[in-house]
Amino acid sequence: MTELIKDIDILPAEEAACETFKTTIDGNKSASKKLYIESYGCQMNFSDSEIVSSIMQKDGFDTTSSFEDADVVFINTCSIREKAELTVRKRLTQFNTIKAQKPEMKIGVLGCMAERLKAKLLEEEKIVDIVAGPDAYRDLPNLIKEVDEGHKAVNTFLSREETYADISPVRLNSNGVTAFISIMRGCDNMCSFCVVPFTRGRERSRDPHSIVKEAQELFDKGYREVTLLGQNVDSYKWSAIENNKARLEKNEEAQSGVVNFANLLKMVALVHPDLRVRFSTSHPKDITDEVLHTMKKHENICNYIHLPAQSGNSRVLELMNRTYSREWYINRVDAIREILGEDCGISSDMIAGFCTETEEEHQDTLTLMDYVRYDFSYMFYYSERPGTLAAKKYEDDIPLNIKKRRLNEIIDKQRAISLTRNRRDIGKVFKVLIEGTSKKSTDELQGRNSANKVIVFPKKDFQKGQYVNVKVNNCTGATLIGEAVD
Ligand code: SAH
Ligand code: SF4
Ligand code: F3S
Repeated sequence: MTELIKDIDILPAEEAACETFKTTIDGNKSASKKLYIESYGCQMNFSDSEIVSSIMQKDGFDTTSSFEDADVVFINTCSIREKAELTVRKRLTQFNTIKAQKPEMKIGVLGCMAERLKAKLLEEEKIVDIVAGPDAYRDLPNLIKEVDEGHKAVNTFLSREETYADISPVRLNSNGVTAFISIMRGCDNMCSFCVVPFTRGRERSRDPHSIVKEAQELFDKGYREVTLLGQNVDSYKWSAIENNKARLEKNEEAQSGVVNFANLLKMVALVHPDLRVRFSTSHPKDITDEVLHTMKKHENICNYIHLPAQSGNSRVLELMNRTYSREWYINRVDAIREILGEDCGISSDMIAGFCTETEEEHQDTLTLMDYVRYDFSYMFYYSERPGTLAAKKYEDDIPLNIKKRRLNEIIDKQRAISLTRNRRDIGKVFKVLIEGTSKKSTDELQGRNSANKVIVFPKKDFQKGQYVNVKVNNCTGATLIGEAVD
């Protein structure tokens, strides 16, 4: 779930955190009440901000891109590493200076940090008026009313059912071509380092009808790519019987009344052959050959899998409670290469310096990277999170300088592999979906190929949202450089 860092595939140690990327929104400036929302963390959080904006729009709020003008300021937060929370705290200090001159402005903390710290946040951050966890967004208009009546307002109730299935998200900062669709919420895996099961609650899958409908609506509006989001998409499971719904019609796979991830992928792929389908994140313990065969069968399901390994050593993986071994992981990668071929993009998340990791065990991570040949990775050093299994059971005993050195070795390794993987593509022609103007030059466009690689090429008369065949002539470690061909 770290794909937000688009064409920056390798991050230096100090910046290796998705939460340093933030977006804000802009909208119709004429509405009477104004909302400013800023998001940190994974795609799920960015997708949630679109749901929040939709809920707030119905309550008469329009969005603004400057927090100075806002009646309500929301900051949608991430708790994944300590640094993520520090970034948010710094930002709240900045909001404080505005609030000092504009005391009627309401400040709300949403998302994972709200869920982790609950009412404690109100004591720690005096300027905060509202604390709302990820399952409490429908309650935001009421929470705002409570503040109007002179109280502070908190809702951090975690639901077993909430999927916001019926809410049509307001697309924020959209390029009009690619969009996220949330297909499930929460996580039932208890990876020992991870705070997500505590901040997002139990796993639940969204009604597949509502997912297909959202994909269709996006396609009708001109979008050409959807990314299906979940912490572990492979465990997507929706049962008509459990949900008291009629069985799906015209869908052989779903005759049993149960829709698994492979079934869902097929359903979304059938929305239109020109709608690309991506998904994130896959879990090595759950990804099935059925999913791989479904990807192979449908040209519009992209040939790319984000399959976080976290470590290449079986003992460390066991301590991490990832519930697979190095051998199991390698078996899954072999299956991907066998069914989808050498060109299938594979990326990973890696954690350096987990509790008790030895130098030899760290070497196993590097050799796994050599074996898999990841196109890119998101790389972090271990940051202990209060309340997690690892924090309770193991000592965070690897000194920071060693964690950073190991992380840098992982980053250097990935840099070299990314460049080799990109060089393999020189001379090849890829179908590219154009997402917009290149960040470096207005004379160039940029898009991605099926394997999720960013390609830049001269603009000519091509437009955003079009598919174009691009021949790769050159590359860097992060980007392919080419030209459109017939
Ligand atoms: N559901 C996804 C991960 C979401 S969190 C999955 O299972 O892969 C994104 C990434 O943050 C994780 O894959 C992990 O590499 C990293 N991460 C999570 N907790 C961390 C911690 N305590 N310290 C450092 N990195 C962490
Ligand atoms: Fe965290 Fe593991 Fe769940 Fe991913 S699968 S969100 S790493 S607990
Ligand atoms: Fe995402 Fe951060 Fe929460 S990664 S699920 S926003 S802790």
